[in-house]
Amino acid sequence: MNTPQLADEDVQRQFRLDGRVAFLSGATGHLGRLMADALAGAGAHVVLNARGGDKLDALCTELRSRGRKVSAACFDVTDEAAVLKNIALIRERHGRLDIIVNNASNGRAGTIESTTLADFEQAYRVNVMAAFQMIQAAVPLLRESAKSTAGSSVVNIASMYGSASPNPSIYGTSGANNPPSYGAAKAALIQLTRYAACHLACEGIRVNCISPGPFPAAVYLEKDPGFHDRLKEKVPMRRTGEPRELQGPLLFLASDASSYVTGVDLAVDGGWTAW
Ligand SMILES: NC(=O)c1ccc[n+]([C@@H]2O[C@H](COP(=O)([O-])OP(=O)(O)OC[C@H]3O[C@@H](n4cnc5c(N)ncnc54)[C@H](OP(=O)(O)O)[C@@H]3O)[C@@H](O)[C@H]2O)c1
Repeated sequence: MNTPQLADEDVQRQFRLDGRVAFLSGATGHLGRLMADALAGAGAHVVLNARGGDKLDALCTELRSRGRKVSAACFDVTDEAAVLKNIALIRERHGRLDIIVNNASNGRAGTIESTTLADFEQAYRVNVMAAFQMIQAAVPLLRESAKSTAGSSVVNIASMYGSASPNPSIYGTSGANNPPSYGAAKAALIQLTRYAACHLACEGIRVNCISPGPFPAAVYLEKDPGFHDRLKEKVPMRRTGEPRELQGPLLFLASDASSYVTGVDLAVDGGWTAW
């Protein structure tokens, strides 16, 4: 066995994304904005996606004012034709795609009795099928990228509720009851991650997911003053997450720093799923 050599290269360089092109869905949301800044701050050109054009343009302007390289791709990730068109546009405009972050999600709150089959279908479309189609459509570009990098990277944003049930006692009258359709779809996304990781590993394409814990947006905390305290009580670290705390984990998985990591579900949850 060879003795590993100490490299001259600064290990921090492994986290840089200079010259790479990343696609990030759901970029204008509570967590997506910080993910966009992390990827662009590491040197990537980031193609930012969401359905709402105004918010997307405002985010582009804000990030460009800070010297980031970004562009907008306004479309619904559940629209099959739009996904194909936008991957083709990325090829045309950039000639490459190295990183995909499947982060877009939406859906209404609900319980076993109020959730409909249509809610289930919608949750599956946005969380699972859209991620699948994005990966499928981008495989030729990701394969090309892997030839000139230490590997291309897909990061799917799942949830702690993909592996643990929401505790009903937390939600009270917050109106934010996490519905049964959400965690079921996120569990499927975690499994899709493992499947894609195993089937694409030999091509140099890594596929991982991040399962965030509680990162509540202000709007949910305002509706029910006790909600935040009940959430914090369930976290071993006794606090909820700050969106910036997803930046490091995302950069790790998106970059060469994780060149031997694939098929992983990285919990970023203050220990929630470790109880
Ligand atoms: N916040 C948390 O505590 C938490 C915890 C665990 C997991 N997560 C996961 O983390 C990710 C981000 O959460 P978040 O809190 O940032 O959500 P958010 O604030 O609701 O943002 C969702 C983003 O997705 C976009 N979007 C929704 N549906 C879309 C579609 N069909 N096509 C394209 N874009 C779409 C939204 O913009 P438009 O509406 O303009 O399209 C928005 O930019 C999600 O996958 C979520 O499930 C969040």
